[in-house]
Amino acid sequence: MIPLSLAEVASAVDGRLVAADPDARVTGSVEFDSRKIGPGGLFVAFPGEKVDGHDYAAGAVAAGAVAVLGTREVPGVPMVLVDDALSAMACLARAVVDRLPGLTVIGVTGSSGKTTTKDLLGQLTVRLGPTVAPAGTFNNELGHPYTVMQANPETRYLVLEKSARGVGHIRYLCEIAPPRISVVLNVGVAHIGEFGSVETIALAKGELVEALPADGLAVLNADDPLVAAMASRTRARVVRYGESADADVRAVDVTLDERGRASYTLVTPEGRAPVRLGLTGRHQVSNSLAAAAVARELGMPLADLAAALGELGLVSTRRMDVFERPDGVTVIDDSYNANPASMGVALRALASMQGQGRTVAVLGYMAELGDFETEGHQQVGRLAAELGIDRLLVVGEPAAPIHEGATAVGNWGGESVLLTDQAAAVEVLRGELRPGDVVLVKGSRYRTWEVADALRAAAGNEVTS
Ligand SMILES: Nc1ncnc2c1ncn2[C@@H]1O[C@H](COP(=O)(O)OP(=O)(O)OP(=O)(O)O)[C@@H](O)[C@H]1O
Ligand SMILES: [Mg+2]
Repeated sequence: MIPLSLAEVASAVDGRLVAADPDARVTGSVEFDSRKIGPGGLFVAFPGEKVDGHDYAAGAVAAGAVAVLGTREVPGVPMVLVDDALSAMACLARAVVDRLPGLTVIGVTGSSGKTTTKDLLGQLTVRLGPTVAPAGTFNNELGHPYTVMQANPETRYLVLEKSARGVGHIRYLCEIAPPRISVVLNVGVAHIGEFGSVETIALAKGELVEALPADGLAVLNADDPLVAAMASRTRARVVRYGESADADVRAVDVTLDERGRASYTLVTPEGRAPVRLGLTGRHQVSNSLAAAAVARELGMPLADLAAALGELGLVSTRRMDVFERPDGVTVIDDSYNANPASMGVALRALASMQGQGRTVAVLGYMAELGDFETEGHQQVGRLAAELGIDRLLVVGEPAAPIHEGATAVGNWGGESVLLTDQAAAVEVLRGELRPGDVVLVKGSRYRTWEVADALRAAAGNEVTS
């Protein structure tokens, strides 16, 4: 963070200093996990249900914290007292942004691919100037201000993932860090349980372009009608990317190699250049175009851009992470999260990697689909069968409609089995996998990870998160 005195912190968060020196300066990072506190840091104590951050206040000070921002006094601890620690984080983050006039804030939203695209974009902007775009998903009312506060006076580009679980959420995040460039990737059914309809999801995501100033830039996916329509909701200039003929930054002649990696010709107003992605999945064409459209606007010449796109790698874990085991089995660990759209891109990537062996999909439950839950799971099962996936392991009773959807496809030559849990899936894989097989592991977080980790451990690789 930028160095701030405790008086400045208190003023930014409308807090009250208790037993604290107003001139003492916060020179380290702002942390809500006391284990991460270092010299000069500021510890934020949240009154949690199970763990109360205030219990760790003294420890944080012992570890070097200048003060603790919290909602109640802790004897012997210098405090910035506030009514609500989360709002205080938001105010402090905004104060940081306001003190960094040379900073370009870039917001990324969409139903799927936010973290992936944020990571791709960060790898491009870092070639243009110091960038803050930390690995992982920091997209909500806690992670967002936390990320913003990592910017310092050297930072030129702050790439932020912005997520919504309801109307007004992205607007709120944009008040913390007002974007100058907003990227909207797609509108799908992720979190439809909370939103109710796809139209409401579009309404919420569009808040990212509504927040732009007149001299800002909206980067919109020309291939997604609900995103393209957001052009009418912003004062800012609009740049469209995609494979549509009317996109400003476009991919043509897309091909996939045997590992599911895309090559294409990048077409921009400056000309054309060949791009060869090292990332798996056709969906990376769209994500890479979104990132390219931003980097181009920031001044990266076409030839540099095309070369940089070819060097993009994975930053955050468990997203289309492809690795080969010594026994010749290829694993696609895409187990971070799942919704019907992301299941679709992952299954297509798997199908495109059909080698000498079989394609195997280990699919778990997709959370947060509300009324669309049964239909969403069935669709995924149908798609797996229609793509000709050879073996489907559906994990857990809540995911059963995937199994039903697949087995309902009459002419499918593959086979599906519904398994009770992850351990059962690992057991089946252990018995069935042969050299040349490609295995996709995907589901909504947590327990699906166990399957990916078991496959990784069998490969002798370390688990990376
Ligand atoms: N453009 C895309 N369209 C559809 N699916 C995608 C796209 N990009 C990535 N995915 C799929 O979505 C999965 C999750 O990607 P990522 O973590 O980038 O999404 P996210 O939007 O950040 O998700 P979350 O809302 O959980 O933070 C990927 O592993 C991949 O399967
Ligand atoms: Mg994310």
